[in-house]
Amino acid sequence: MSEKSALVDPFDRVVNYVRLSVTDRCNLRCTYCMSEKMEFLPRQKLLTLEEIRDIGEAFISLGVNRIRLTGGEPLVRRGLVSLVDSLASHKSLGELTMTTNGMLLETHASDLKTAGLKRLNISVDSLDPKKFNQLTRFGDIDQWYRGVYAAKKVGFSKIKLNVVVLKGFNESEICDLVAFAIDNEFDISFIEEMPLGETNSHNRSETQFHSVDVKSNICKQYDLIETLERTSGPSKYMRVVGTRTRVGFISPISDNFCNLCNRVRVTADGRLLLCLGNENSVDLRSVVRNHPGDQSILRDTIKEAIKHKPERHYFDPNRTDILRFMNLTGG
Ligand code: GTP
Ligand code: 5AD
Ligand code: SF4
Repeated sequence: MSEKSALVDPFDRVVNYVRLSVTDRCNLRCTYCMSEKMEFLPRQKLLTLEEIRDIGEAFISLGVNRIRLTGGEPLVRRGLVSLVDSLASHKSLGELTMTTNGMLLETHASDLKTAGLKRLNISVDSLDPKKFNQLTRFGDIDQWYRGVYAAKKVGFSKIKLNVVVLKGFNESEICDLVAFAIDNEFDISFIEEMPLGETNSHNRSETQFHSVDVKSNICKQYDLIETLERTSGPSKYMRVVGTRTRVGFISPISDNFCNLCNRVRVTADGRLLLCLGNENSVDLRSVVRNHPGDQSILRDTIKEAIKHKPERHYFDPNRTDILRFMNLTGG
């Protein structure tokens, strides 16, 4: 049974997009995303793949037509392809996508495509081998390239690169990253860093680099034209003239987009988070564990939760109000 647009929040926003985090673990340690020493959730607190599937199916039956799998790094979760396979089999799900750091795509790209994954967003913040290694704390860029080229080869269309821009670190590479996207006919989004979790590597108020500056940087080398094209995400896109590439700007700090919010998240331990920038959440893990197979209770819990979706975030790069690191929610 599908109830169209059953999820409308108190601000009249229709929630039709869910991000499911399948693990808090990652094979990298990007400095803006994690601290050097991270404690991960004990395994019994993580949702099983079956529990994630049941939760995904409850959202689909409530009218959600976009699901994005995130992490940590989703591909470190064993058996993930089977989850993709079962969620993708739902005809009313318009799009099943994934955000990944790309490091394991060499092994998994083909199976993911066959299982029905539609689109991939791949994170990369530097193409300079040393900087890549430094920012991720130990990543090997060659492994990243092999992953990306594997995804391209198996025919994923419209791969999007995600770049978090940090002043003093990678703003000098913005045009090189755009050039790489153009050469490969990828889209690319530049993201403003958000104050999620206490970082010990840098002071976020010093590394802020806003979209308007990213844009003027790109305009020195490329002609950008406005486009009204949008995906279901928060990127505002421009087209690079004469290419197949769109450049997206995700500007949570300088240009709040909460009024257009269409999404909620489920953390790897089953908390339904109603906003990335607020801590209020509803425990879905206890619902699926206390009432296994009962979709009706799950649906009622989700419907009730949406009534409490906050209006907006109040991120301030000078303060870390939200102690939860991004690896728990996947962006
Ligand atoms: P598309 O469907 O390709 O447009 O994806 P998307 O932009 O929704 O997903 P993606 O994983 O590429 O998101 C990129 C980044 O945007 C995330 O990692 C977050 O940093 C940021 N982001 C996504 N959704 C939100 C949101 O609701 N609020 C805020 N503040 N940031 C978000
Ligand atoms: N601010 C903005 N984006 C972040 N990401 C992780 N942490 C942050 C942060 N603090 C992004 C990654 C990736 C996605 C999973 O989330 O770069 O694109
Ligand atoms: Fe891992 Fe992504 Fe966080 Fe980097 S940003 S540490 S790749 S979850």
